[in-house]
Amino acid sequence: MAAEILEVEIARLGAGGDGVADGPGGPIYVPFTLSGERVVIALKPGENRGDLLEVVEPSRDRVAPVCRYFGACGGCALQHMEKDAYLAWKRDQVAAAFKARGLTVAIEPVLTVPLASRRRATLSLGRERQGPVLGYRRARSHDLIDVDACPVLVPVISARLARLKQALGSLLGVRREARVTLTETETGLDVLLEGARPSPVAIGAFAAEAAALSVARLTAGADSIALGGAPELDLSGARVKLPPGAFIQASREAETEMVALVLEGAGKAKRIADLFAGLGTFTFALARSSAVDAYEADGAALAQLAEAARRTPKLKPVRPFARDLFRAPLGVAELQAYGAVVFDPPRAGASAQATQLAKSPVPSLVAVSCNPGTLARDLRILVDGGYRITRVVPVDQFLFSPHIEVVAHLSR
Ligand SMILES: C[S@@+](CC[C@H](N)C(=O)[O-])C[C@H]1O[C@@H](n2cnc3c(N)ncnc32)[C@H](O)[C@@H]1O
Repeated sequence: MAAEILEVEIARLGAGGDGVADGPGGPIYVPFTLSGERVVIALKPGENRGDLLEVVEPSRDRVAPVCRYFGACGGCALQHMEKDAYLAWKRDQVAAAFKARGLTVAIEPVLTVPLASRRRATLSLGRERQGPVLGYRRARSHDLIDVDACPVLVPVISARLARLKQALGSLLGVRREARVTLTETETGLDVLLEGARPSPVAIGAFAAEAAALSVARLTAGADSIALGGAPELDLSGARVKLPPGAFIQASREAETEMVALVLEGAGKAKRIADLFAGLGTFTFALARSSAVDAYEADGAALAQLAEAARRTPKLKPVRPFARDLFRAPLGVAELQAYGAVVFDPPRAGASAQATQLAKSPVPSLVAVSCNPGTLARDLRILVDGGYRITRVVPVDQFLFSPHIEVVAHLSR
């Protein structure tokens, strides 16, 4: 059936960054619109997401997007919103998550990152009649949009997208599509290809171009091929080798802001536990003045943290512990050893660990999270256990997306 053409008023922005109109049959989500706008949309029968056809009455907060692909590309949701309104909306997302858990603490203004600061991107590599395609999904579609520049990404990646596409295209082999994760490291680009098994000939051809493209390593399936220096990150002065696919903070600028907040929240504790430590983003900063125990489930990441700790001068003792903190959170008896605990779990949060911390005497806690919903849930557990939340600072690590990073300080 043909789509219906409707004029609607956008009442608010939903949590995913789409405008929401209250239709007779319930909410209608309209991407790339703003609160208060009157817009014409196409709505297919039975769907609750409309396609924007025309903005009849624009919001005063509407601005021109910074990227020519905005609106067609599904990578960004919020380039059309004036900066202060956009940051206020992000802050409101955090406030709403806290309010839903009965946490009435003030949320500080959002710390920002500049354009061209995202150092890791996962793109789709595909093939069309005219050749390879490297980019993101089209908005509301499974199709790919070929992107030869992305203003969110660091120049080292953005400026090379067109040439990378040609070089990566031959790695697809018989596959129609694969995922490519590009990471800027100190020693060059790290390229992780998932969903394709390139032939040795194709890898050889890619390797021949690696130096010109500043590619340090290609990982395809179980095979990692060093093409330059092994990919390394500088984490507060420690040089840490990057295992393929290991977690890193998406923007160095956001990482710097988060590290400063973590240092402030942990204070001068003699011994600190860094839970969900990854490669040691916070461990190495904290270990400049405190002994740090780093707990992490990813064995490859922890091994590199441990190796870098051995090689880095002027650190207080760093002890790495392999541990699944969902199944085996640190118990109260173990937590007693620490003057501060930092925890930075994945999106699922750390409810089992928060339950143990709530019963512990640890004086200072720092929570870092990319999911305000699970963060608020975990902080509720801690507040019910007697902790006070003293600071909540959102960090706009994921520019133009609906996502937000948050750092919270607690004490007892
Ligand atoms: C958001 S990342 C933070 C990493 C590090 N703090 C950083 O800033 O780079 C979450 C980390 O938790 C680890 N992780 C995931 N599930 C875990 C679990 N059940 N137990 C311990 N660590 C886990 C991941 O491997 C990842 O390194």
